[in-house]
Amino acid sequence: MRVEDTKFAQGFFRMCGDSFRQGWNERNGGNLSYRMKAEEAALVRDRLGRYEDSAQDGAWQEIGTAVPELAGEYFMVTGSGKYFRNVEPDPASNVCIIEVDETGTKFRILWGLVSGGRPTSELPTHLLNLAVLKKRDADMRVVYHCHPTNVIALTYVLPLDSEIFTREIFEMATECPIVFPEGIGVLPWMLCGGREIGEATSEQMKKQDFVVWAHHGAFACGHDFDETFGLMHTVEKAAEVLIKVMSITDRKRQTIEPEMFRKLNGPFHVSINERFLYEKTPGARIGER
Ligand code: 13P
Ligand code: ZN
Repeated sequence: MRVEDTKFAQGFFRMCGDSFRQGWNERNGGNLSYRMKAEEAALVRDRLGRYEDSAQDGAWQEIGTAVPELAGEYFMVTGSGKYFRNVEPDPASNVCIIEVDETGTKFRILWGLVSGGRPTSELPTHLLNLAVLKKRDADMRVVYHCHPTNVIALTYVLPLDSEIFTREIFEMATECPIVFPEGIGVLPWMLCGGREIGEATSEQMKKQDFVVWAHHGAFACGHDFDETFGLMHTVEKAAEVLIKVMSITDRKRQTIEPEMFRKLNGPFHVSINERFLYEKTPGARIGER
């Protein structure tokens, strides 16, 4: 079966297009990875490792980190320097399928990037996250990075503190703590594209589904494309509301209070982490405890 005709590939390409149309992927900004199921790899096996019309040769290359948990697995990943905008019209030039070797330190390109190129520069972060997620829940397969405007803007004005950042986002939409009851992680500015930021991000992903990279963007993860895209969309929407509120005032007149959040737990079958439901000082400004 052609890779382009599979359901997982179509979901992957659609998500890239949707993300671009949201305005979260200027130029080559953002990257997406998907840990393929064994049956999906089997469906396209006869299309993998053919290099007749491709600039690729299938040589093993260094990942730049070690992910022994993912040895022998197959992934669909966006290419480095490729534009999300171009994925839907020309997936084979902008996306690839890679295989991780038996040691978890090397990969090879088995399909795609036919005009040349390599997987995203954030491959270490994607694979380290996917390894952590596989341990958390074997059905979590998607890791997504983009540059959502309002989330990035908030990293200039809110303290880079997971508890404060999460609480301010929670207060902007009742659905937030239902969608991500474990809150969001926040990393300070770090050099992107390497092992160090990958390790820091995956450390957060052990418990949380969303991590903010200050002054850069965000990472979201999930079981499938809908859930992962929906998470990014939910956080970015709440961030937009917060930016609007902060444009009007530095203090809210009224808001969702901790005891109101707690009422959501039972009916929505969630357990909102109490870490984020701290009592605020009366009259506190937005971003203050
Ligand atoms: P890539 O083009 O290498 O995927 O990089 C884009 C990006 O957003 C880096 O953080
Ligand atoms: Zn980025």
